[in-house]
Order: sequence, then C-alpha cells, then structure tokens
Amino acid sequence: MTRRTLLALLVASLIGVALFYAVTIPTRISAAALPPRTPDLANGRQMFLAGGCASCHATPEQNDALRLGGGLALKTPFGTFYVPNISPDKNDGIGSWSEANFVTALWHGTSPDDRHLYPAFPYTSYSSMQLDDVRDLFAFLQNLEPVPGRAGAHDLKFPFGFRRGIGAWKILFFESRRFAPVTARSALWNRGAYLVNGPGHCAECHSPRNALGAIIINRRFSGGVTPDGEGKVPDITQAALGKWSEEDFAELLESGDTPDGQTVGSEMRTVVRSTAQLPAADRAAMAAYLKTLGASPAH
Ligand code: HEC
Ligand code: HEC
Repeated sequence: MTRRTLLALLVASLIGVALFYAVTIPTRISAAALPPRTPDLANGRQMFLAGGCASCHATPEQNDALRLGGGLALKTPFGTFYVPNISPDKNDGIGSWSEANFVTALWHGTSPDDRHLYPAFPYTSYSSMQLDDVRDLFAFLQNLEPVPGRAGAHDLKFPFGFRRGIGAWKILFFESRRFAPVTARSALWNRGAYLVNGPGHCAECHSPRNALGAIIINRRFSGGVTPDGEGKVPDITQAALGKWSEEDFAELLESGDTPDGQTVGSEMRTVVRSTAQLPAADRAAMAAYLKTLGASPAH
C-alpha cells in the first residue's frame, strides 16, 4: 500500500468516525418545552403502576415496591444490566434531575449527561406516553422515599458496552413518537391501546426480536422470549387467544388467573402485581384493546 492510499484511508475513516458521532448525537427536551403546571400525583401513581417501573427498579429482596434503589441484575443475551437507582436520592438516584431530564430519558432514551440509554430500559414503549402523564409520573417518583446506594456497572459483551453504538441502533429501530388515538375506535379502546403500547410496554416481552434485539414490528404481540433469552413468552393476539373474552383479559390483569383455571407465573406475575392495583376501568380498557389484537395489523 502506498503512502497516498494509506493517507486516503486514514482520512476516510476519520470522516467516517466524525459522521458517526454527528448522526448519533443524543436528542433531548428543553425545559422551555414544559409550561408550568400542577402535577396530579394520583395520575402519576397510575402511570407508575401501568408502567411496571417497580418490577425492575425496586430494590430486590424486600417487599416495598416504592423503594426504588435499583440493583436488580437483568440477564440478557447481550450481557447483564444492573438496574439503576431512580429514587429521589440526590446523589445516587434521580433526586437532582429536572423534569426536562426525566422527559428526555423516557421520550428519547438520553441521560442528563447526554449519554444514550440502553433499550433494556423500555423507553421504546414509554416514548409514546403523553407529556402530562410523564410529568405526573416524575412528580410521583420525586415524592417517594430517597434510597441511598448505587447499582454496579453493567457487565456487557463486546461490542455492546460501547454506549455510542446505541445511537446507531436508535436510528435503525427507534422513533420517538407519542400515541395517536385512532378516531374510528371508542374512547375505551384508545385508552387501552395507549396503556398497553405506552406505559404497559406489553409488546416488549410478547414480541419476537431480531438479532440486534429490536422488535419485529409486523409481529408485535405474537410471542417472544423472556428477557434472559431462555423462556418463552406466549402469543397474546387473537390468533392464539381468540377464545378469551374481554372479561377474561380483565380478570388476568387483576388476579393473574387465566380462563382455563391456571395462574400466570414468572415475569407475568410481577406485571400483574402492578396492573392489579390499577383502577378497574383501566383494566377494562386494556382488555377491550387486547380483544382486538391481531384482528388488524395496526399495532
Ligand atoms: C425491564 C426493566 C425496566 C423497567 C420495566 C423500567 N426500567 Fe428504567 N431502566 C432499566 C435499565 C436496565 C436502566 C439502565 C439503562 C442504561 O444504563 O442505559 C434504566 C434506566 C432508567 C432511568 C435512567 C436512570 C439513570 O440514572 O440514568 C430512568 C429515569 C428510568 N429507568 C425510569 C424508569 C421508569 C419511570 C420506569 C417505569 C415507567 C422504568 N424505568 C421501567 C430497566 C427498566
Ligand atoms: C417482563 C415480560 C412481560 C411483560 C412486560 C408482559 N408479559 Fe404477559 N406474560 C409474560 C410471560 C413470561 C407469560 C407466561 C406466564 C406463564 O407461563 O405463566 C405471560 C403471559 C401473559 C398472558 C397469558 C397468555 C396465556 O396464553 O395464558 C397474557 C394475556 C399476557 N401475558 C398479557 C400481558 C399484558 C396485557 C401485558 C402488559 C400489561 C404483559 N402481558 C406484559 C411476560 C410478560
């Protein structure tokens, strides 16, 4: 190789690196986008329950779902994630975050220090949450008990430890977009579609994923594998659950009981622990939407 081709290669790769950095700059929400408003803490609690935040962020091996000290080890095919502290502790949690920081994390998967967050935190679903719901959720979290202590660093396989790479993943697989109601459907159905696809993040477990861990869009809800990549998550479209009535779906979200007399186990038991505490109207709304899953390719 001549010195000129070497130089040309070097310049080309520098341009490549610069381009990569330019297109993967994390996006954020500015404080100016948030007009003053009094938060609704009851709605914030509802979003916390619908979002199942406690199932990952609650301190393990204790029973208080509101102690959000983190530390849970989430085993995935990409390595082990250690869920961070999101309690209002000023040093170890998110107590010093602004509201805009929080909206940015849920809508764009970007941290206050401008790093991309891993989609192991399902912002791929949370980004469809409405602004007021995210703001209420933040107020609710900031009113909880601060918990000191930080989780350890993630232990990821090469090359997944390279955070900037998530920027490229986002370009390929992530669109930050709020839920848009379907006008032809009832208010109940739309509420259900919102809760299931947004805070509920049900598709995150119930869908197959490609080799880079992104949900295969036209097969949402048709079954997947558990986050550790080892167990199966059932198909919940009407192709599999056509015999379930709306009441059956609502019952499952309240008690964990299925119409054939079983009780759901594993990860779904943790989901039900949260949905059981939602208002019955929200479970009925989710049920109305679930009863139409797969009947049209819309979601
Ligand atoms: C499936 C598990 C899971 C669920 C459910 C989950 N999170 Fe997380 N969350 C994570 C992981 C893992 C990270 C770390 C991501 C990273 O390091 O890039 C994280 C990061 C965060 C962060 C950034 C913290 C920081 O210090 O940068 C916030 C804020 C957050 N989650 C809030 C929430 C809220 C609010 C909910 C409920 C609406 C929620 N999470 C539900 C797993 C989860
Ligand atoms: C963290 C992963 C995870 C999330 C999130 C999740 N599920 Fe599940 N779900 C499972 C697993 C695993 C099972 C199978 C449980 C079992 O084998 O007992 C299941 C079972 C079910 C079943 C019973 C299916 C059958 O054939 O018996 C339904 C219905 C269901 N989930 C609906 C939902 C809805 C609605 C949501 C969102 C609110 C949701 N799931 C969120 C993992 C998840």
